[in-house]
Amino acid sequence: MSATPVAPLPDGVDPAWLPPSALRALGARRVRVSGEGPLVATVRGEVAAATAEHGGSLVTEGPVDLALVCAPGDPDGEAFVVRRDGTTTSVTATGGAGLLHGLHHVVRLGEAAFSGRWEPRRHAPRRAIRMLDHWDNVDVHPVMGQVERGYAGGSIFYADGAVRADLGRVAAYARLLGSIGINRVCLNNVNVHRTEARLLTDLLPDVVRLAGVFRPQGVRVHLSVSFAAPMTLGGLPTTDPLDRGVQEWWASTTAAVYAAIPDFGGYVVKADSEGQPGPFASGRDHADGANLLARALAPFGGTVFWRAFVYDHRQDWRDRSTDRARAAHDHFTPLDGGFDENVVLQVKFGPVDFQVREPVSPVVAAMPRTRLAVEFQVTQEYTGQQKHVCYLVPQWSEVLGFRPHGDGDAVAEIAHGVVAVSNVGDDPFWTGHPLAQANLFGFGRLAWDDRLAPEAVLDEWIGLTFADPAVRAPLHEVMDGSWLTYERCTAPLGVGFMVRPGHHYGPDVDGYEYTQWGTYHFADRDGVGVDRTRATGTGFTGQYPAPWRDLYESVRTCPDELLLFFHHVPYGHVLRSGTTVIQHVYDTHFAGHEEVARTARTWGALRGRVPDRTFDRVTELLAEQLRCATEWRDQVNTYFWRKSGVPDERGRRIW
Ligand code: GCU
Repeated sequence: MSATPVAPLPDGVDPAWLPPSALRALGARRVRVSGEGPLVATVRGEVAAATAEHGGSLVTEGPVDLALVCAPGDPDGEAFVVRRDGTTTSVTATGGAGLLHGLHHVVRLGEAAFSGRWEPRRHAPRRAIRMLDHWDNVDVHPVMGQVERGYAGGSIFYADGAVRADLGRVAAYARLLGSIGINRVCLNNVNVHRTEARLLTDLLPDVVRLAGVFRPQGVRVHLSVSFAAPMTLGGLPTTDPLDRGVQEWWASTTAAVYAAIPDFGGYVVKADSEGQPGPFASGRDHADGANLLARALAPFGGTVFWRAFVYDHRQDWRDRSTDRARAAHDHFTPLDGGFDENVVLQVKFGPVDFQVREPVSPVVAAMPRTRLAVEFQVTQEYTGQQKHVCYLVPQWSEVLGFRPHGDGDAVAEIAHGVVAVSNVGDDPFWTGHPLAQANLFGFGRLAWDDRLAPEAVLDEWIGLTFADPAVRAPLHEVMDGSWLTYERCTAPLGVGFMVRPGHHYGPDVDGYEYTQWGTYHFADRDGVGVDRTRATGTGFTGQYPAPWRDLYESVRTCPDELLLFFHHVPYGHVLRSGTTVIQHVYDTHFAGHEEVARTARTWGALRGRVPDRTFDRVTELLAEQLRCATEWRDQVNTYFWRKSGVPDERGRRIW
């Protein structure tokens, strides 16, 4: 009966939500693990380590407090059943992955797993695809650094131009992912540069090593590939998806990948997007492009994740007929029904780009014959870059719960997968901001079950991460509402951006106003917002089915928080909340700033209750967050006061 030892945490690295204390309840018990296979060995290793630490025992016979049983059945099964009779809690699963998920379920329950009596209850993930995309580069990119939009240091996978020799850190990471049910990881940036393209070919032996580290935690690896690879790596004269030579190149290259990594997950592709190559170069469409790769992967059970983030990134700001929000729907919905079965169209949750507030992408409701995955950003590109506290699970929960047809299925039921851009780097805390670990944890939990309440997910994270129960209430105060605080501090009423161009940190109200990127707010002396109505604007509202196409179309029914995404309105326009747009701008920016100041005070009281280095890092970052919130408040308020000439009705200081 084999046991795989738990990967030791490299020196100085934070244990995140799996410190030894998190496994105390389980580790103090008599536990039996039955079954065989690599993931059962992982479970046995966890139990052996926890019982050694906390005084329990891993036994093979006799009465036990906890029985973890992998019984014959579907070996790929991810579900598990828990029950408690008499004094024994038992978890049964038919696959090693299910047993691993069951183990961590017991860990999360803590002492509660060992009291009372409960009927058998089956737990299964709500969807099969639960994936993290790393935007890591092998080389350090001159503008984007090693991890594109990474705010936690360099890559944990690569150093000095190659996959790291020591993958100890990756093993600790894989364990964290296994504990939250993430089952797929993409290892490199969607913008595929020269060295990274070679992960598919001559650097493949290193990918094999990475796959070997993720496998014992039930996580399959994927690569982002360049659509131009047949030319750049294969020396062919074309990338045309209908060309026989191109098809053969992908087929043989993919066969070689599977020969080395039999459980390889597949490819992620950003094509014809922000300068990446794609099928348009040969006059083909995205279904031709995606199916080319899908057919190379199909014999091996692989999947191609084809991104729908396709828009004109060289727009003329004077051109009012082009609307970036429309682009994904315009490009992809005509292709519905044309994608092979093993294509997953990966759609950003909103129509623009991971803003703090956007409507749900209309693509989600418009492609019933295509498998879709919704993409989130755990990395906080537009939400404080892991310098600011911003617990994003409430945002994702809202998106997954949105019903595109009014009643009927929610996004969570329509989507086959949930994917997010990772926020992890080689920082000792993994995520730069220690509290950003909760976003990684929460993403996994919500991907598993979107019906979990964000506060309950946070509660699990707090309970596992911090040994002192007294931190629970103050941490909820700091984090529960932090997304809404972030929204109040930044661009108002869904209009988006207003960030510094390029790096996207800190305020710059007109930073993107006269650029090529299609992200404008159109503020003038009379009003602000983007007219996306059918009546007088870009017609974007027409991409939604009823009832949203009409609710968004009218200023009277459009939700306040999205008003400026859909409408250009005068500053004196009265919101559904009863206040005017201009007064809302002032009020929210003063309030957001005060909330950040209050957060800093609440956190300050936790000295001595959380590890010192966590305390110090968060304290330092909260000072930066307050500085930044001051800048946002003063720049946004001053900008709109100067534009509109309307004073704050409460006479507060505006510059
Ligand atoms: C954003 C981000 C880019 C990234 C892109 C994408 O625009 O700023 O760095 O490449 O999204 O999702 O592909």
